[in-house]
Formats: sequence, structure tokens, C-alpha cells
Amino acid sequence: MRFQGLSAISDVSIEVQRHEVVGLIGPNGAGKTTLVNVLTGFQRPTEGTVELGDHRFDGHAPSEFRRKGVARTFQAGRLFRDLSVFENVEVAGLGVGLSRKESEAEARRLLKWVGLDDRAQLQAGALAYTDERRLSIARAMVGSPTYVLLDEPAAGMSDAESEDLSHLILDIPASYDCGVLLIEHNMDVVMKVSHRIHVLSNGATIAEGTPAEIREHQAVLDAYLGGHA
Ligand SMILES: Nc1ncnc2c1ncn2[C@@H]1O[C@H](COP(=O)(O)OP(=O)(O)OP(=O)(O)O)[C@@H](O)[C@H]1O
Ligand SMILES: [Mg+2]
Repeated sequence: MRFQGLSAISDVSIEVQRHEVVGLIGPNGAGKTTLVNVLTGFQRPTEGTVELGDHRFDGHAPSEFRRKGVARTFQAGRLFRDLSVFENVEVAGLGVGLSRKESEAEARRLLKWVGLDDRAQLQAGALAYTDERRLSIARAMVGSPTYVLLDEPAAGMSDAESEDLSHLILDIPASYDCGVLLIEHNMDVVMKVSHRIHVLSNGATIAEGTPAEIREHQAVLDAYLGGHA
């Protein structure tokens, strides 16, 4: 993905299966969000392909990715702040083509799952920042997507909140048969929930492996020590 002169990502090949959590880490500006944008239709890659199952999917609109089961959250909110917590999830249901009744049922089910059922009637704008993250995950899981891409869901969370979030993330492949691509700077969370980890630096893959392998990987240590992780 190139922006005018700048090559934001190049030489990256990444695959996610439905039964796993793949961690995506790298210093600030490494290209993680850009990669998620490309993988969800928010940016059209200048070169390379995006495939969903056996089908080539780059060039499709974000709404088409979403209807085909590829959902995401954003690094910064993007909630409807004037709607209630419940309505935020309900609207996501209508957006993926569910009926009103189905959307309501999804909202009830998912808010319970993320632990926000007691705040369902609250205005979304009044939620604590860390609750917004969980609401975003509930919205992304509407309609049982096959893949979900989470952009820094633990940002700003306490250790206890991160711990709860880790369980929620692990539940996505386990209970929903949905693959997860997890961008996260919180290493405790990434190391704990990822089955595999993919490391980007300056827009290129510098390492791939299990959490134990990545922890010891010299190029990763160098990228972080030389950067500003
Ligand atoms: N729309 C854009 N136009 C121009 N440059 C962009 C655009 N989006 C991203 N970039 C650049 O691409 C590079 C990768 O940015 P990206 O946001 O993907 O990094 P990141 O790994 O998500 O970083 P962070 O950890 O800070 O969120 C950066 O140099 C950034 O400035
Ligand atoms: Mg980012």
C-alpha cells in the first residue's frame, strides 16, 4: 500500500484461519492499521491481493467485506455517541441485513457477552473509554462474522480490564468459530491470546512465529529497542 511517495506496507503476506488468534505487532507507524484497512476494504491496495477463502476480494467496498463476514474495530471509537449502547449494536445488525427483531436479539446476546447488558440503555457517548472498546467488539461480532480484526482493543485498559478482554478475545474463535487478527501494543495480552504472532516494522514482515519464538527473536527485540514501543 503506497501513499504518494510513501510505501506504508510492502512485502507482507499474512493469513488467518477461523480457529485462531493471530497477533499483529510492531512499533508505531509500522503499518499495522494500514494492513487492517487493506484487509477490510477501507483501502484498496496499490499492489497485491486480498483473498477470502478461494475468492479474490481486494477492490470490494468495506460493506461488502462486512456482509461476507469480515468485521473490524477501529483504533478510535467510531460509535454513534448519541444513540444508546443497545441501539449501537442494533444498528450494526440492520447494517449487515438482519431484521429489526434479529438485530435486537443480537444486541441482547452480544451485550451480555461483553458484559455491558447493565448499561444497554446508556447513551454510548457516556460510556467509559474502556467500555467503548467492548461495545466496539460487540458491534463487530453482530451477525457472527467469520473473521474479525481488532485494532488495539486493550489501549488504556488496566491490568484487570486487559485480563477480562483476553478472555473475551479467546472466546471468539472458541465459541464463534471466528478467526481474529489482533493488533495490540499490550504485550501481556498479545502473548497470552495469540496462537501465532506476525511482526511488522517499517511496513515489512520481520518475524512470524509462536509467542515463545517471538519473545526471543533478535530482529523483534532490535525493532522495539531501536523504535519506540
Ligand atoms: N492515509 C494515509 N496517507 C498517507 N500516509 C499514511 C496514511 N495512512 C497511514 N500512513 C502512513 O503509513 C505508515 C503506517 O501507518 P499505520 O497507521 O498503518 O501504522 P500503525 O502500525 O498502525 O501505527 P500505530 O501503532 O501508531 O497505530 C505511517 O508512516 C503513516 O504515517
Ligand atoms: Mg495503528
